[in-house]
Amino acid sequence: MNQTVYRAADTRDLILFAAHCLVRLLGHVDHRICLALAGGSTPRVLYERLASADVADRLPWRHMHFFWGDERHVPPDHPESNYRLAYEALLSKVPVPASQIHRIHSELPRAVEAAERYEQELRTVFPVQSAPPRFDLILLGMGEDGHTASLFPGSEVIHETAKLVAAPWVEKLQAYRITLTPVVLNAARQVWFLVCGEAKARALQAVLEGPYDPDTYPAQIVRPVDGQLVWFVDAAAAAWLSRTECVSVCSAESVL
Ligand code: 6PG
Repeated sequence: MNQTVYRAADTRDLILFAAHCLVRLLGHVDHRICLALAGGSTPRVLYERLASADVADRLPWRHMHFFWGDERHVPPDHPESNYRLAYEALLSKVPVPASQIHRIHSELPRAVEAAERYEQELRTVFPVQSAPPRFDLILLGMGEDGHTASLFPGSEVIHETAKLVAAPWVEKLQAYRITLTPVVLNAARQVWFLVCGEAKARALQAVLEGPYDPDTYPAQIVRPVDGQLVWFVDAAAAAWLSRTECVSVCSAESVL
C-alpha cells in the first residue's frame, strides 16, 4: 500500500501544508475533479484555509465536484450537519457551481432513503457503472476511537463489499449516520486523513502500528486498492508513534 505520513509541529503548520499539497495536486487541473469532504473540527480548519484568498485563487473551483464521505441524519441547516460545516467554512465562499455540490439528502425521514438516493447520485455522476466510483480525493478525519467517516467500531459496514453508501445505526451516538462504505473509500486515487491532537495519539498508534483489527479501529479498513493513502498528523497526535516513518514538514514548506 502506497502510504505517506506527514508530521507537522502543530495544527497550524499541518493545515498550511495540507492546503499546499492540495494546490500542488489540483492547482493545474483542467478537467472534472471529484472530492469527498469529511466532517469534524480538523477538516473544518482546512476548509477555512482553502477559502482564504491566497489559496482560493489557486484552485480550479469550476472543475471541482464536491461530495461528502458521511453525514449525520439531520437537515442540511442543522448545527451538526457536515454539509453545513463545509458550506459555511468553504463552499459559500468560493465559485463552485451549485450543480457541482452533491450533498447527502439527510433531511429524508429515513436514513436508508438518504443512503439510497446518494448511491443513485454517485452512480449517475461517475461514468463507469461496472466499477466503484473512483474519487480523485477523499478527505477523512479520525475519531479518538479510530472511527473514520461514519464507520464506527463494531459496525457491519466496515466489511461491506457491495453497497456504495450505508445508513448504520450508531449505538454510542444513539443516531443514524449515512456513510460511504469501504467499497468507495478504497477505490479513490487519493485518501487523505487529517489527525490532530493528543487525544488521537493512542488510536493513531494502534491504527498505524498495531495489529490489523478494523473492527476495533475502523480507520484501518481504508487501504486504497490503486491509490495513495496520506496521513497529515501533528506532533501531538504522533506522540505515541515509534516505528512509523514520518516526513517532517514545517510552515516554510507551506508557503504557496
Ligand atoms: C463526522 C466525521 C468524523 C470526523 C472524525 C474526526 O461526521 O464526525 O465524518 O469521521 O471526521 O470524528 O473529527 P474531529 O476532527 O472533529 O476530531
